[in-house]
Amino acid sequence: MKEIIGVYAGIFNATLDEYLMHRLDCPSPVKDAVAYAMTGGGKRLRPMLCYLGAEFAGKSCEEVSDFALAVELIHGYSLIHDDLPCMDNDTLRRGKPTTHVKFGEAVALLAGDAMLNSAFEVLFETVNSSKDVLAASYIAKYAGTTGMIGGQCMDITDNNGEGYDETALLSMYSKKTSGLLIAALLSGAVSCGCNKEEEVDLINFADYLGVAYQITDDILDCTSTEEVLGKNVGSDEKSDKKTYVAMFGMDNAVKKAKDYTQRAVACIAKYGERAEKLIGLCHYLVGRNY
Ligand code: IPE
Ligand code: IPE
Ligand code: MG
Ligand code: MG
Ligand code: MG
Repeated sequence: MKEIIGVYAGIFNATLDEYLMHRLDCPSPVKDAVAYAMTGGGKRLRPMLCYLGAEFAGKSCEEVSDFALAVELIHGYSLIHDDLPCMDNDTLRRGKPTTHVKFGEAVALLAGDAMLNSAFEVLFETVNSSKDVLAASYIAKYAGTTGMIGGQCMDITDNNGEGYDETALLSMYSKKTSGLLIAALLSGAVSCGCNKEEEVDLINFADYLGVAYQITDDILDCTSTEEVLGKNVGSDEKSDKKTYVAMFGMDNAVKKAKDYTQRAVACIAKYGERAEKLIGLCHYLVGRNY
């Protein structure tokens, strides 16, 4: 699976290079900060999900390259903002100093803003059917307050309150992390014509996958090294984050990530060969070490 991930990352990186060279119109140093944040690392999971969404619907990666670009731009912006001192206050990302450490907070903030707006510019440039419009609207929804931003809101508030339980924690994960995975997979599949039943199955699949992905991220924050992870380790503990590991212990976290991976697989197993790569990816991600 690692090789397959590399192939899709290569396809995405070519689209990204072209975007940074010819499409992004932005003054320096914000443009340099955008390029810095977007290049030199990253698993490119969201573009891959977008491509696999297209393939699931019987089309190819090229058909959805701008949807993949838009979602990864939004992911990149979310990471710049997530690392700021007013949020997680982290200094290392993808093996490099975080964007605000390198460029200062004002430039980092604007780079994030630029990437979010640019994502929607890219989408407006690409939509040319009602299916595309629906796909783009899903990106707005699941990246926005219903999804990723909503989850980030809960991440900085709810978890300090009394009565914060497993359901509340998992609902926060479902928004902050599953949100963009749903946006990626769904935009690829919907713009390529998947039907309503498939849409629902893919949403549920990406939702479970995202929660498993976030629990694994929490586990790695405790067990990995900065060299392997490319991020600060022990960041959650430092800021007293109520993660799955902190609330329920390491063994339960490992079990839960596996359980949610199984649930994800169960949502799409009926599609047989069409779902093979998505299922392989799911199994690979829960065992990742980075
Ligand atoms: C980091 O996402 C934030 C989480 C949702 C855990 P990734 O782990 O996908 O980060 P990159 O893109 O590979 O750097
Ligand atoms: C996910 O959570 C962040 C976003 C949704 C942007 P984390 O705060 O745990 O992500 P990392 O560990 O910094 O990548
Ligand atoms: Mg965070
Ligand atoms: Mg963080
Ligand atoms: Mg984390």
